[in-house]
Amino acid sequence: SRTRIGIVGAGPAGLMLSHLLAVAGIDSVAIDLRSREEIEHTHRAGILEQGSVDLLLDSGVSDRVHRDGYRHDGIELAFGGGGHRIDFQGLVGASTQLYPQTDVFIDLADARERDGGDVRFGVTDVSVGDLTTDSPVMRFTDADGSAHEIRCDFLVGADGSRSLCRHQVPDSECTQYFREYPFAWFGILTEAPPSAPELIYNHSPHGFALISQRTETLQRMYFQCDPTENVDEWSDDRIWEQLQRRLNANGYTLKEGPITSKTVLPFRSFVQEPMHYGHLVLAGDAAHTVPPTGAKGLNLALADVRVLAEELERAVRNKDATPLATYTQRAVARVWKAQHFSYWMTTMLHTLPDATPFDVRRQEGELASVTGSVHGSTYLAECYTGWPGER
Ligand code: DHB
Repeated sequence: SRTRIGIVGAGPAGLMLSHLLAVAGIDSVAIDLRSREEIEHTHRAGILEQGSVDLLLDSGVSDRVHRDGYRHDGIELAFGGGGHRIDFQGLVGASTQLYPQTDVFIDLADARERDGGDVRFGVTDVSVGDLTTDSPVMRFTDADGSAHEIRCDFLVGADGSRSLCRHQVPDSECTQYFREYPFAWFGILTEAPPSAPELIYNHSPHGFALISQRTETLQRMYFQCDPTENVDEWSDDRIWEQLQRRLNANGYTLKEGPITSKTVLPFRSFVQEPMHYGHLVLAGDAAHTVPPTGAKGLNLALADVRVLAEELERAVRNKDATPLATYTQRAVARVWKAQHFSYWMTTMLHTLPDATPFDVRRQEGELASVTGSVHGSTYLAECYTGWPGER
């Protein structure tokens, strides 16, 4: 069978693209190896830029982000014994929304179902081909066992950081930029009341910690750990001891509760350029990964597909692949700003395994120069809320 746009990956990027294309009257088929339940139960970051919120609202996905999310007008940067608030509203007139990625996914999956979109979860044997022709193909076996071959005008790889589509691009046709970090995050969910009204990005000589929230009764927290850390070796008591120690250094005390989820999150920076090859385009984590500090991953994926939907509309209308190059050009500009911001927040706030007292004090100096300056704070607020002029 045939569709205009074949989409490999039905996470937030793939589903938002499928939705935006449907709004423009362009049909698509989106497939994913994972079941809907599996994606819904993968904990991810929880902060949406204003532009991401607007995209969900304005394109008609759902207004649940306003009803069930929490508006945050700033963050706390904690270091050197105290907290320093970055006032997003006061500095740049923007806010962020605390709304977990899993809820964004649920809203998008519901909207696609509501609008009769063709989305198939739990497929197997996925392969793609004929990418440099004007009739690329997507092959897979449905959850019910039937094999399919779908030809399309353009194929989109929105299949995440372990992307199958990305690997179809020959080495000679792209550049991969890569950076690793000698630490990871230990992430938990705890059944406890909020410890703070806004996020706390906490620098300390004992390592970084991030205090985030989910609801009045469920909280999300992270602390810097070794990438090889095994969650089974971490009792609740041991986790709380680490978190309290790091937060106590800056005058905070956390409200404790039972810990219901423990995971170690990898840290990586990665970009593959260009984000297109023949009639294939990459979007979201398939094309780039950021370390989690600053919560740019999902926001960047949504920014990608907002641009991609526009360029694919042009490409389909004119039966021409040049808009894919325009997509790369437009998307990559934001990708590298987000790469820099995520890298900067990461290196400013985390303690390297071999850090000297000089390194720690220098970071405190850097943090003080940001929080102590309207210009420094404004810079951080602009990046965190999603770059004005691009919203
Ligand atoms: C969350 C995750 C992040 O990486 C971040 O920078 C802020 C918040 C979260 O999961 O709530």
